[in-house]
Amino acid sequence: MKKTFALLLAAIMMLALLTGCGGDKPADNAGDSQPAQSDAATPPADAATPEAPAAGGNIGVCIYKFDDAFMTTYRNALQEILEGKGYKVTVVDGNNDQAKQNEQINTFITQGVDALIINPVMTSAADTIIATVKAAGIPTVLINREPTPEQMAAYDKLVYVGCDAAQSGTFQGELILDTPNKGDINGDGKVSYIMIQGDPENIDAQLRTEYSVKALQDAGVEVEQLNLTRGDWDREKGQTICANDLAQFGDKIEVVFCNNDDMAIGALQAIQSAGRKVNEDIYLVGVDALDAALNEVSNGNMTGTVLNDANGQAAGAVAEMEKLLGGATYAANEQSVYVDYVKVTPDNVKDFMK
Ligand code: GAL
Repeated sequence: MKKTFALLLAAIMMLALLTGCGGDKPADNAGDSQPAQSDAATPPADAATPEAPAAGGNIGVCIYKFDDAFMTTYRNALQEILEGKGYKVTVVDGNNDQAKQNEQINTFITQGVDALIINPVMTSAADTIIATVKAAGIPTVLINREPTPEQMAAYDKLVYVGCDAAQSGTFQGELILDTPNKGDINGDGKVSYIMIQGDPENIDAQLRTEYSVKALQDAGVEVEQLNLTRGDWDREKGQTICANDLAQFGDKIEVVFCNNDDMAIGALQAIQSAGRKVNEDIYLVGVDALDAALNEVSNGNMTGTVLNDANGQAAGAVAEMEKLLGGATYAANEQSVYVDYVKVTPDNVKDFMK
């Protein structure tokens, strides 16, 4: 079956060459930088009999670093789903080191894995990663750190599964707009905030930072940024940054925006040590809906968070991987598949708690 399929593919490729259709050439993508919500996978040209997904195949999973609260939930979900479907799974820790992750990818390729699921350490490394998996012809799902549509267009057996980071930022802004004073606790006509940012190289950090504030501005609210500091998604850094800002700006701080929950939990410790009270004299929002954050939203110690659906994304990544294993290819500009974020407030938090 595999052989017949390979022969068929070779014939199709020959035909494509003869008719001048370069399979790897991106389709016209001028001016369209917005990745499409995609059901875009096209079955192989012999659509009648796509090869069945290789249940029991070997799957390599590269995670940017194990020591990341959200990615821990995510990788556990991935492993569970893949093993539940009978795949042999190896999950490796990139230790936040792109060179190390590149080696891990090469090792997986040498070992002959059937597919790869990769959470890149650095978005800027996407070109190298894509060129490597393309040269080896390995079907690949990228997760969590989204490359540009142009970068992905280089390889048609590649798809990204993730969320639209701008949406999570907008939801954070809306959580503040939904408070009784729209974030203006001291009534001076503007919302004064600090921003605790994730890794600024990461598109999630960039867009959450931008869109959380934009939501306020779009609603006609005046804003004042007191400080913006990178906290690299890390709880301890979140605490230190927030403690320093509280010492420097004191009561001026009305809103603490954190690009993720782990930093928000750290920030909460600093807020409580400074004798401030969330939802009374300061607001605090995060993203991810980690269990700890859900508890704090429910206790009134966080204003809200945004569900970053690890289970949904893991299930989506596996589904796309199986399409690729079945021979599907992706058209340029249709290589991103998004799972929705969900706003979490005291009103609906119970729905998300286990
Ligand atoms: C984000 C998530 C962060 C962190 C980051 C890693 O989507 O909100 O908590 O895990 O991914 O890239």
